[in-house]
Amino acid sequence: MPKITFVGADGTRTSIEESVGVSLMQAAINHGVPGIVGECGGACSCATCHIFVDEPWASRLAPPGDMEDAMLEATVEPRSPASRLGCQIEIANEIDGLQVRLPNRQI
Ligand code: FES
Repeated sequence: MPKITFVGADGTRTSIEESVGVSLMQAAINHGVPGIVGECGGACSCATCHIFVDEPWASRLAPPGDMEDAMLEATVEPRSPASRLGCQIEIANEIDGLQVRLPNRQI
């Protein structure tokens, strides 16, 4: 299973392993990673799964779709060029080792 590392706003690192096809949001919830809320359950309508994906990983992901792009304007912590929604990124073998940062607040 691919390994994903979540880095909290305080620098706390949590590494998990999760099945291919599961979203980053659901993976965080499944493993009790603090800092991800996922209020809408992955329907791309709450923006409480805000994450930051830096290079070199960002360019290895498909770019945000129109709905994700719109919801990224509604995040509590201001959007940055690295902003993504965790519910819109599926775990894949190609992103084994992915590291993402979490915002200070989701709600
Ligand atoms: S879980 Fe609601 S937008 Fe991602």
